[in-house]
Amino acid sequence: ALKVVLEEIPAGAHPMDVMRTGCSMLGNLETEQDFSEQLDHIDRMLALFPGMINYWFNFSHNGIRINVDTEADSIAEQFLWTLHNRKPKPLHIEVMHASLILYAEHEFNASTFTGRVCASTLSDVHSCVTAAIGSLRGPLHGGANEAAMAMIENWRSADEAEQNIMTMLARKEKIMGFGHAIYRESDPRNDIIKEWSKKLSEHSVDEYLYAVSERVEAVMWREKKLFCNADFFHASAYHFMGIPTKLFTPIFVCSRVSGWTAHVMEQRANNRIIRPSADYTGPESVDWVAIKDRP
Ligand code: COA
Repeated sequence: ALKVVLEEIPAGAHPMDVMRTGCSMLGNLETEQDFSEQLDHIDRMLALFPGMINYWFNFSHNGIRINVDTEADSIAEQFLWTLHNRKPKPLHIEVMHASLILYAEHEFNASTFTGRVCASTLSDVHSCVTAAIGSLRGPLHGGANEAAMAMIENWRSADEAEQNIMTMLARKEKIMGFGHAIYRESDPRNDIIKEWSKKLSEHSVDEYLYAVSERVEAVMWREKKLFCNADFFHASAYHFMGIPTKLFTPIFVCSRVSGWTAHVMEQRANNRIIRPSADYTGPESVDWVAIKDRP
């Protein structure tokens, strides 16, 4: 039944919308009836999400109904296998393991907070994850690695990259994959994924992408003291493994669902509804104007 729904989603859809709809549909097919079932549902989401996005991707883009019942023995391997419809290279599986671990959990980021607010109403686990996917979709959060890729793939040399970054900074544009709301000096996840990106570039036909990425990193530090966050070198690393850019953020979902659901379980174990108050800053009093009299 999930495949039937996935086949209806057009190729032009945003892959995060596919994740959101897929997760929500799963909640219809396998509704959580009682919180005692939560671990089974979470395991199911972890197991199904990689095949889910790749089933849609291969069907909508290539007209192929892939076999999602592979012999993969990890989430990383299942993702790569169902994407390319063949057993992945061991190096690629290793990089995906590192990537999924780096993205798995990161304290109270926007999507985790969203999921946790939903959990605090005692909603079902699929609703919590669906809500979190909606928050992760935005470019200031999960979409940054895709935006970084869209930027760096335009440049054919490190010098061209430097010139363009300088122009963008002069125009006060945000450079995706840099900065962090909490970290102030560096993002510890960057060193790890950067090393993997370098290794992959040595094993791929890469003439400039890694060099471009390194130069952008150096220029951003020199000019703004801004450092790469986890997303920046993920862009080149995923690209070297033949992953289409539009699937970058769904991979984030396949990983972060572990962190989100850990928070859901924690919230449920000691729940109080999360309901902030707001300070109203609008006008004190305005005259009533009937709709027909409005200008
Ligand atoms: N490119 C250019 N300038 C940036 C920047 C970036 N990526 N990130 C921060 N800055 C600037 C801000 O505009 C701000 O400048 P100002 O003082 O002149 O207004 C200054 O650096 C300080 O910003 P800061 O308070 O550290 O960031 P924040 O908490 O408001 O925002 C992010 C954090 C992550 C939303 C922000 O860094 C960003 O938009 N980064 C790009 C998107 C991204 O990579 N997201 C993934 C996060 S893991």
